[in-house]
Amino acid sequence: MNESSAPRIEINLAKIAHNTEILMKLYRSKGIEITGVTKGICGGLEIAEVFVNMGIKTIGDSKITNIIKMRKANINAEFMLLRIPGLSEIKSVVKYADISLNSELSVIQSLSKYANKYNKRHKVILMVEMGDLREGIMPKDLHSFIEKVMTLPNIDIIGIGVNFACFGGVKPTNNKMRLLAELSQEVEKKHHLSLTYVSGGNSANYNWFMESNNTMQVNNLRIGESLLLGRETLSRLPIPDLYTDAFTLVCEVIESKIKPSVPYGEIAQNSLGVTPQFQERGNIRRLILGIGFQDVLVSGLTPILDLEILGSSSDHTVLDAKNVNIQVGDEVTFSVNYGAMLSLMTSSNIHKKYLKMI
Ligand SMILES: Cc1ncc(COP(=O)(O)O)c(C=O)c1O
Repeated sequence: MNESSAPRIEINLAKIAHNTEILMKLYRSKGIEITGVTKGICGGLEIAEVFVNMGIKTIGDSKITNIIKMRKANINAEFMLLRIPGLSEIKSVVKYADISLNSELSVIQSLSKYANKYNKRHKVILMVEMGDLREGIMPKDLHSFIEKVMTLPNIDIIGIGVNFACFGGVKPTNNKMRLLAELSQEVEKKHHLSLTYVSGGNSANYNWFMESNNTMQVNNLRIGESLLLGRETLSRLPIPDLYTDAFTLVCEVIESKIKPSVPYGEIAQNSLGVTPQFQERGNIRRLILGIGFQDVLVSGLTPILDLEILGSSSDHTVLDAKNVNIQVGDEVTFSVNYGAMLSLMTSSNIHKKYLKMI
């Protein structure tokens, strides 16, 4: 088995480098620095290296295990834990992450305790809830929260942040960004803090950014999908001049036969626990690929040829070959969305092939 075995994901590093260069320049034109997010690629070292070589200074990941991997491989960046830490992982967070996003006092107290013990300082960005209803301190509670955090040894409040369009699908509008900017000014004034990070969100902030002449105090975005897949994430539209095809899944056909289009026999649940329904198309050429929902979010795959995905079980995906002539051993390629990319990059069963030329 080598990197050219199938199923494999082909990752074009030159396209990711291009996307990184264009986006950094674009966001910098209005005073915003990018934190490069590696959670969608399982903290992949080759891609983290590209981010850093293109000038990214901070890498964000939601998994401390990914941060440990990148840190141990000497990726030359500051590391930000993007997901608020669990109490059970504090020791590793203090040891390996420079910054973490936070919203719970007990967690920051524990970070303080271990930072003190390890004789380190740990930087926190306080997440503020602004409508998407995932992590965050309610704005009315922010000032009293900050007062308590400021009493904790070895903790530096370096910023405030918000997150949008991840859980509730709430848009980062100019009004939301203004609230964040005003809050950052209040925090600086009231607590005599200088905030290095006023972190306005993620790839969903692209439209707000493009429409704003003044991005106010917002000076950071944590960007994953736009760098990797070249899209904004409110409508998943391509961002001009970026590559949307840096990742391609390549699978091998392991069976190709003419068979009926509808299962026959008494029908019950399938491996996903659902009773599937199929359209009657007469006899069709059915292709089987050696990949299934164990390794990829199948709904996030789009065949590049005119083929149709009929369904999948844990290790098989079945396609209607339609009019395309495909035989056993042939390769079938797919473009991927973020969920498919994330699952493929996380799966140890999928070979990773890195391409260096566009
Ligand atoms: C807190 C946080 N910030 C930033 C991101 C990056 O989001 P995106 O990949 O849409 O840019 C994510 C999700 O991956 C996240 O959870």
